[in-house]
Formats: sequence, C-alpha cells, structure tokens
Amino acid sequence: MTGASRGIGAAVARALAREGLELLLVGRDEVRLSEVSAEIAAAGGKASTLVQDLSAAEAAETVARVAVERLGVPYLLVNNAGIATAQRFDRRPRGEWERELTTDLLAPLRLTYAFLPLLLQRRRGQVIFIGSASADRPLPRLAVYSGAKAAVRGFGRALDLEVARRGVRVSVVEPVYVRTELGRRPSDSEAPLERLAREHPRAVLEPAVVARAVVRLLYHPRPLVRVPLAWAASRLLLEALDPLFGARRQLPPPGGDGRG
Ligand SMILES: NC(=O)c1ccc[n+]([C@@H]2O[C@H](COP(=O)([O-])OP(=O)(O)OC[C@H]3O[C@@H](n4cnc5c(N)ncnc54)[C@H](OP(=O)(O)O)[C@@H]3O)[C@@H](O)[C@H]2O)c1
Repeated sequence: MTGASRGIGAAVARALAREGLELLLVGRDEVRLSEVSAEIAAAGGKASTLVQDLSAAEAAETVARVAVERLGVPYLLVNNAGIATAQRFDRRPRGEWERELTTDLLAPLRLTYAFLPLLLQRRRGQVIFIGSASADRPLPRLAVYSGAKAAVRGFGRALDLEVARRGVRVSVVEPVYVRTELGRRPSDSEAPLERLAREHPRAVLEPAVVARAVVRLLYHPRPLVRVPLAWAASRLLLEALDPLFGARRQLPPPGGDGRG
C-alpha cells in the first residue's frame, strides 16, 4: 500500500486492515507512517512500515522484496502515492515536472512490474491504482498530473485485459476532489483541497469514501470505478455540453494557414 502516511492512502490502509489484510505501509514520512500503523494495531489489525521514496529507480524492487520477506507472496498492490503541483507547464523546471511524472506514472508501473510475477505465481491477486477524475476532465495548470492519470487509466485497463484470465484483476479508481493535503506547498497554511472543503463542503469527498470504493473492489473487481457515483453520471452530461462551453477554453489557431 503506497502513500499510506496520510490522506486517501491512510484511509484505504485502515479500511483494508479492517477487512483482515496484513499490510506493508510505504511512504517517505516515517513518523506519519508509524502513526497510521499504530492506529491499525490499536484497532486489532496488522501493519508494518517501509520508508521509501518511490521516485527513486530501485524503490519498486525494494518494496516487492520487503513485502515478500514480511508478508509472504502478496495478494494485493495498491498504487496510491502521488503528487500534484499546480503551475503553468512552461514555467516549471524540467527536473521538477519529470519527478512528478515519475512519482505519478513511472513508479506505479515499476511497482506493478515488480509485483505482477508474484501475483501471477499464486494465480490470484489484485492491483488497484488510485487514478483521478482529471483523466476525464483535464485541468489547466495540472497538465502533467492530468496526463499521468490518463496514462494510468489506459495502462490499468489494458493490463486487466491482459491478466484477468490468469487470475489477477487490475482496477483504476478515479475520485473527484477529496479533502487531503495533495498539492500543499510549504508556504500554505492550509492545503488547496482543505480550503475547498471548508468553502464548498459538498463539492469535496472525505478520504473514507474512496476507501469504501477500494474495499468494494476486493469483493467485486472492476476495471474502472469513478467516485462518487454521481460524478460517473454527470460527466456524460458535461461531455455532451463541451462543444458549447469548451470552445471558450480553446486557443485560436496559429496564423491563417494553420502553421505555427
Ligand atoms: N485529493 C484529491 O482530490 C484526489 C483526487 C483524485 C485522485 N487523487 C489521488 O489520490 C492519491 C493520494 O493522494 P492524496 O489526495 O491522499 O494526497 P496526499 O494527502 O498528499 O497523500 C499523498 C501520499 O503519497 C505519498 N507520496 C508522495 N510522493 C511520494 C514518494 N516520492 N514516495 C513515496 N510516497 C510518496 C505521500 O507520503 P509521504 O509524504 O510520506 O512520502 C502521501 O502518503 C494520489 O495518487 C492522488 O493523485 C487525489
């Protein structure tokens, strides 16, 4: 379980532990990981922690090796860890957005690559990705994040088709806004999503809602789940209206002959 130190990951970890799964909680913040682990233990569950920066090249192999050492052949991988930086793409230093892409896209793929042989070996298992509604509604200033999440959806759905017959199911869970610290900068007194939750409480989900969707997948695996259900329906309406309102967002073509 990656990104288990706070937010959606911590909520998913608590919920999975309540289902009786023994967990390896992965993240960089040792103190917060230990707090989540202690909370799970106090509620009668089992979890240990592993401090790992998943943007590092060798992290996935380390996580898989430690998972086998501590848990035996694993049943489930939850790829939840992620970052989001809201900034114009042309203003972002290359190394910085490449690190975001590595964390949000390459790291979950590397982890899946490291865990898949183990899951296939026992012919039973699940990989769950926490994607994002931004795969449907890409957001300006979040182009790298939106692109990574769209790629995660494509990868997860294709892989499910590839491995389902061999006993492994792959699911992508795509929440809308959730009240977490995602996108918080060191200068922020309050994370953007926490502020949104305070100003528009009904527009923002609690992490436990996403955790419930993940638990449902344990019993009823599906390739793609949008959270909440109301979003799954309203997005179709938004798509239909896009030709009317979307045009305002488009830039004019570059010059009369269409060449830039
Ligand atoms: N909040 C939303 O509105 C929303 C909506 C849709 C999808 N999501 C997705 O939900 C997932 C969880 O995000 P959240 O909202 O819960 O945000 P969050 O509160 O900021 O939590 C992010 C988690 O990812 C971990 N993480 C980040 N970079 C890492 C790295 N390099 N190595 C290891 N762990 C790393 C963090 O742990 P450490 O700091 O301990 O490393 C933390 O536990 C993300 O994939 C996000 O894209 C969120």
